[in-house]
Amino acid sequence: MEKLNYAHNDTSAGEKKSGTQSFVKLKIDEKMQKLRESAFERRIPVADDETLNFLLCTVSAVKPRKILELGTAIGVSGIAMLNRLPEARLTTVEKNADFYEEAKRNFKSFGVLSRTNAIFGDAGEVIESLDGGYDFIFLDSAKAQYVKYLPTLKHLLNKGGVLFADDVLLYGWVNGEVEVPKKRKNFVKHILEYIEAATSDSELITSIINIGDGVALSVKK
Ligand SMILES: C[S@@+](CC[C@H](N)C(=O)[O-])C[C@H]1O[C@@H](n2cnc3c(N)ncnc32)[C@H](O)[C@@H]1O
Repeated sequence: MEKLNYAHNDTSAGEKKSGTQSFVKLKIDEKMQKLRESAFERRIPVADDETLNFLLCTVSAVKPRKILELGTAIGVSGIAMLNRLPEARLTTVEKNADFYEEAKRNFKSFGVLSRTNAIFGDAGEVIESLDGGYDFIFLDSAKAQYVKYLPTLKHLLNKGGVLFADDVLLYGWVNGEVEVPKKRKNFVKHILEYIEAATSDSELITSIINIGDGVALSVKK
């Protein structure tokens, strides 16, 4: 299941979804902002301001050279990370054919195609065929599958590498802020299983951060 509401934070108004003040000032260029606006207008699920800013903060600190992203959409987060990191290479996986084709056009248009390995396919299958050695993994595909992917992603991640899993507190359902609709209970159960697995894993140090729709940030020891 994907996000149901693709609206982003309007930082010009300084408002977060919760109505609290947002202090985020995204440092991206006009071309990238236009691409994001076009995604929001078409209700394509790309990272909101808070999440994208935190993602860029994290990769700026970690300085990964080899990045894996599950859930390319039209390439916004991938391009933003590659723009921040001129030495980095990105492998990114998308199962929607239209998004995959558009992402490839966007990678070319932003001059990062030669540093990108865009793969069309199901993330669960693709990760089993990858060699590993990643310094950073951005997990942003179907949320209910995260827990299934975790053992393989841990294996693909270098020691000291970072696993950034987005949307783990979706709509406030997961941490009890908002009552879970009956038909979403199974979905929430899978995310809670991911949180339990990531926080109790002896090889990972994991924090759950209430940014955007919630991020689980794990470092492999
Ligand atoms: C939240 S969007 C990704 C947004 C993107 N990372 C960004 O911020 O610009 C999630 C994407 O994951 C894709 N997706 C969902 N399940 C998938 C799967 N099993 N394998 C590959 N892609 C998947 C969806 O088609 C969607 O484009």
